[in-house]
Amino acid sequence: MSNIIRSIKGTHDILPEDSKKWQQLESTIRKITHQFGYEEIRTPIFEKTGLFSRSVGEDTDIVSKEMYSWEDRDNTSLTLRPELTAPVVRSFIQHNLGGLSPLQRLFYIGPLFRRERPQKGRQRQFHQYGIEAFGSPHPEQDAEVISLAYSLLTQLGLTNLNLKLNSIGSPECRAQYRNALQDYLRPFLNELSETSQKRFENNPLRILDTKVPHEIDIIKNAPNITDFLTHEDQAHFNSVQSFLNQLNIPFTCDPTMVRGLDYYTRTTFEITSSALGAQDALLGGGRYDKLVETLGGKATPAIGFAAGMERILLALEAETPFESYDSTDIYMVCLDESVLSVSIDLANQLRQAGKSVKMETLRRSMKAQMREANRSGATYAFILGENEIQNKTVVIKKLKEGNQETVLQTEILEKLK
Ligand code: HAM
Repeated sequence: MSNIIRSIKGTHDILPEDSKKWQQLESTIRKITHQFGYEEIRTPIFEKTGLFSRSVGEDTDIVSKEMYSWEDRDNTSLTLRPELTAPVVRSFIQHNLGGLSPLQRLFYIGPLFRRERPQKGRQRQFHQYGIEAFGSPHPEQDAEVISLAYSLLTQLGLTNLNLKLNSIGSPECRAQYRNALQDYLRPFLNELSETSQKRFENNPLRILDTKVPHEIDIIKNAPNITDFLTHEDQAHFNSVQSFLNQLNIPFTCDPTMVRGLDYYTRTTFEITSSALGAQDALLGGGRYDKLVETLGGKATPAIGFAAGMERILLALEAETPFESYDSTDIYMVCLDESVLSVSIDLANQLRQAGKSVKMETLRRSMKAQMREANRSGATYAFILGENEIQNKTVVIKKLKEGNQETVLQTEILEKLK
């Protein structure tokens, strides 16, 4: 076994037992997202590198150290997508979706790639479900997006949730805040890490993302962005809060939460779960009213969020052990080679009638086949031997209950109704 090829560090196979849980999660996601009127968009796995550096920002951890990028044969720099907001915005602009309808509500599910240090809840290939709503600058749109996020997590059965809310204002107020933050940090400049010293000049807000313990201490007393909001920003933030109160969605305001991506304006939010360990953010998002314009489109306000699907599954496992179900209807037990042709025909008819059928193809003993039928989770075993072929019947055994009856082959579908 020493020379077998293994999966890459930080990537995981989703094996059949787990993929059932993924399917259940995806089906709840699709149901709730549909209830809110969002439609699916699927974009390519790789994009031009410039898409991410121009939107997520050169000084962010994601762009400066976590992207999987390479030079293609024609020297274009390409990148495996580390997030999906920028690709969705690119697609929105490219296909003029804003021209089709003044409000576009989109959602996505798919894999992302970030070269982070793997740990529980943090992978190098992971999956997000996310939504992006384009067109409305108004606070009711923020409330809708947050309410969708909250409804999804609660309907999945999660309870240990903490919704943190902030407003980082418009770019105008951020210029003033940037100066105030620099003034506050200047006396500590020599104590800051090399990365933070670089960020001090280029993008001081990013210092607030630091994971270095003594820097965390320093920024504890830094000025808060919420003290720099313009009148309009504050009014927008107040309205978002009152809509959330009206919807009975509990939240706490966290003026230190700026999020790790540069494109945000005004509302930002995260939902964490206390059932998780260090990587406790189930989802995060916010408004990005300038991004469509930055990427060359017509100015369009927008807001969205993305949730880590692995983290949702971890939280579900920690809180309520996930019951996965098997939806096979019938296991076809074949007692003899001579019954194969009839079995194949029957299985075919049953599948055409919408049933899910697993058929024995290993020619095992009856005992082994019955054991397999029970293990398969099927509702019925259909048993076919020479007698049944002669009489044109089949023995139908209800696997859970254990009782069985003999039914004419022509009456099976009627019987199963
Ligand atoms: P983000 O905060 O970078 O935001 O990621 C959103 C969520 O993805 C996180 O809360 C976490 O659950 C999950 N996640 C991130 N990195 C990893 C990882 N390495 N392993 C496992 N899960 C991870 C965004 O990506 C923005 N595009 C969200 C957004 C949408 N903002 C507006 N619209």
